[in-house]
Amino acid sequence: MGGKNLYIHTYGCQMNVHESDQIAALMLQNGYVRTDNPRRADLIIVNTCTIREKAAQKAMSQLGRFRELKRKNPGLIVGVGGCLAQQLGQVMLKKFPHLSLVFGTHSIDRIPALVRSVEATGARFVDTAFRESIVSLGILAFPENGHPSAYVTIMQGCNNFCSYCVVPYVRGREVSRKCEDILTEIKALADRGIKEVVLLGQNVNSYGKTMNEECDFANLVTKIGKINGIERIRFTTSHPKDLSGELIRCFSNVKTLCEHIHLPVQSGSDKILRRMNRKYGREIYMEKVRDLRSACPEISITSDVIVGFPGETDRDFQETIDLMEKIRFDNAYSFLYSERAGTAAMKLDQKVDVCIKRERLHYLQSLQERHTLEKNRTLIGKRQEVLIEGPSKNCQQDATGRTRSNKIVNFEGGIEKKGCMVSVRIKDAYLHSLRGELSQEEVNPC
Ligand code: 5AD
Ligand code: SF4
Repeated sequence: MGGKNLYIHTYGCQMNVHESDQIAALMLQNGYVRTDNPRRADLIIVNTCTIREKAAQKAMSQLGRFRELKRKNPGLIVGVGGCLAQQLGQVMLKKFPHLSLVFGTHSIDRIPALVRSVEATGARFVDTAFRESIVSLGILAFPENGHPSAYVTIMQGCNNFCSYCVVPYVRGREVSRKCEDILTEIKALADRGIKEVVLLGQNVNSYGKTMNEECDFANLVTKIGKINGIERIRFTTSHPKDLSGELIRCFSNVKTLCEHIHLPVQSGSDKILRRMNRKYGREIYMEKVRDLRSACPEISITSDVIVGFPGETDRDFQETIDLMEKIRFDNAYSFLYSERAGTAAMKLDQKVDVCIKRERLHYLQSLQERHTLEKNRTLIGKRQEVLIEGPSKNCQQDATGRTRSNKIVNFEGGIEKKGCMVSVRIKDAYLHSLRGELSQEEVNPC
């Protein structure tokens, strides 16, 4: 291999984005350079998601579209990975004759060898085995030059089996990385100038539970808090039932832990939470939110909500709305319930009519928009510490960055300070971002 181009098309969560970067890092060692133009590619990889039907369909149509490129360039290798590939395996090869490679969520480290085999033999391969130790979790992928934030996988898989969710089937059971390996990786990132780490896992709160090690998630965060150079720690995703008092205390004790938590509630109705197999009720959830806010009054809390789960009546839906009114999330991602093959919820009766589902979703989203705006507006006039990530998406002359509470801020005069921590006074607030003005003082010089 040598001087070849790799194009990766990514769907889904931050874990997938990170895995695509890991694939690129691995293939770079094997002579492939990443391109953002699929027409120039010698190797195309579609990294898929199957959390909801829509995500799966999008990946399928994208794969279909690459057939034309393969027709024009028979030497092109097209591969598919991620959760949908894990779920469908061999079926993918049958469905897409132009596909040479299907790899699963535990097989990322094997991609170079698989690609070499395709190159050497022209044969087609499927590798979707589950492994006890997932080698790929520790593949180092440094962010592009000057980008100050990096993802670090700390665990993969899930043992919770929420009745609607396909993750335990496509990512396997929980596997945690060794604490020292994570710390070594983060130190290496800090040495390269990284200031912020985002710890990734399907359920980070249960980090370490399936290992003999004496390091749980709160211990891990505390240890990362002592690494020189790392000025911000974030993590995602948390299961409310595993959110410990120790972790809540980290929000007041670990100075570099950012004031934001994504804590998916899914529903505000105890009956629906039971049917979802979430193992907590609305009161417990609200209590955790109260504890978080008393440990860290400025914490931003975001959530996920599923609308139209089987058995959800108007009254159950109103309980979700009531919970949202009481808590007032900084933001919430809401989804229509989507039936996934192999999950327990498929067998539940009392499916909700699609028109009712859509009406409820619309209502809930309008409510959340009001809450998000209200929360964002409380920042007007205040100074916020912002880590500059680069030029703003909509206006290349402006800089963009995030507050510690994970809100996007755009402002003039900061693009040459990519990677710096600056102080910004918030002037205006919108639904998806804040507008600010750079203060003279720099929080921490670059
Ligand atoms: N239908 C709708 N939403 C789902 N999610 C997970 N599975 C489903 C499903 N079958 C949502 C949950 C989860 C988020 C990542 O995706 O809200 O927190
Ligand atoms: Fe899916 Fe529940 Fe595991 Fe989250 S905790 S990945 S929703 S099974």
